[in-house]
Amino acid sequence: TDADAIPRVSGDQTLGLLRHGYGYLSGRMRELGADAFEGRMFGSRTVFMAGHDAARLFYDDDKLKRAGAVPSLIRLTLFGKRTVHALDDSEHQHRKAMFNRITAPARVAELADLTDRLWREAIADWTRRSQVRLFRESVRVLGTAVCRWAGIPTRDRELEPHLRDLAAMVDNFGAVGFGQLRGRLARRRANRWAANYIEAVRGELLRPGEKTALHVIAHHRDGDGHLLDTRTAAEELINVLRPTVAVSWFVCFAAHASHTHPQWRHRLASSDDDTVRAFVDEVRRFYPFAPLLAAKARRDFSWRGHEFPSGRWVILDLYGTDHDPDRWRDPDAFDPHRFLESPPDAYDFVPHGGGDSQTGHRCPGEDLTAVLLTRTVRRLAEIDYHVPTQDLGYSANRFPSRIRSGFVMTNVVKPR
Ligand code: HEM
Repeated sequence: TDADAIPRVSGDQTLGLLRHGYGYLSGRMRELGADAFEGRMFGSRTVFMAGHDAARLFYDDDKLKRAGAVPSLIRLTLFGKRTVHALDDSEHQHRKAMFNRITAPARVAELADLTDRLWREAIADWTRRSQVRLFRESVRVLGTAVCRWAGIPTRDRELEPHLRDLAAMVDNFGAVGFGQLRGRLARRRANRWAANYIEAVRGELLRPGEKTALHVIAHHRDGDGHLLDTRTAAEELINVLRPTVAVSWFVCFAAHASHTHPQWRHRLASSDDDTVRAFVDEVRRFYPFAPLLAAKARRDFSWRGHEFPSGRWVILDLYGTDHDPDRWRDPDAFDPHRFLESPPDAYDFVPHGGGDSQTGHRCPGEDLTAVLLTRTVRRLAEIDYHVPTQDLGYSANRFPSRIRSGFVMTNVVKPR
């Protein structure tokens, strides 16, 4: 077959995707000998793509747009209604600048120090307990840290139900039925909670630090000079808090990786920052988390001789791109060395999307994620613990996947 062609397949891909999960689209592409194919999703004609060239096209905003691209079922649980994810052009640039201020390097460093302090306290407590579940601990530590850092004055004990809601929105974004309902209820409660703080800041009842997410978002003015409406401001605040809590998914994957590759457990305790960062990057590449992204053709165009009419759905397979055998040697092996040998390319390594995070849609929290994970992995490498028999599996067809047991540890000891 011609590797540049975009073959058409019959039938809707939605069920296959739900049934087979993360590896489904790249499996179809391998069968077809192509890095893109046209089929249907939710009944609409859609081009599915993976790999470097596909990612370049996906981030060409002369050809593709985001407005209307994410199905409302997912948008309402995960992102909110009128948030940065679905904006285009100058509206997007303006809103994105707000997030880039919130996650500026100096601010990330402050959050990392705060998180590190909370991990130390938590670990001291673990040594006195018979067992701990890392997932739950991580939601509490990262969640408490990010709320304090964001300027939210809720006391630690009162935060817990809100942290559970933030985690539930992530955990249920791909769910149907009861899980979908849980995610929606969590979203509704979180919106109300966050909206109270936005209003309190605007009413000058609350004065968080000028650089905090709460202050920046409450006072942000869009290009037309207007404040964000309360709901949108609340949703954008949650768009900082929720994904920081979601770093807990990677914390468990990192613990899983060091459990299944014990040689790395020892290395991490004494390695330099570059090596720990390579481990963290490989965790983000290897394990399944954000599966795919959606956009739409903003006008008629052709790519590799294939016609994309205006409005055609385009799906970028993130998981498939991070496991593309043309770009990654032995992609299904966990091997942090690959990141020490050569730095990742912005369109090959896409767990947080591709391209440039300052100007495009790529995640503004990628560095924050990597920094928090690096600190966390170091702390975990310093302690000894036992991993009792439990279900350490993670499912290939649950979105998002996660370590089923939540990674239970016993006999935690901190050597002097
Ligand atoms: C966007 C992944 C953590 C805030 C995204 C996108 C992905 C992603 C795949 C979509 C990129 C696109 O549409 O092209 C992740 C993963 C994370 C994470 C796997 C780890 C848990 C964070 C954190 C923050 C954050 C910690 C905030 C501090 C955002 C925002 C967007 C975004 C605001 C929308 C950006 C835009 O549309 O311009 N993220 N993210 N994320 N992420 Fe993250």
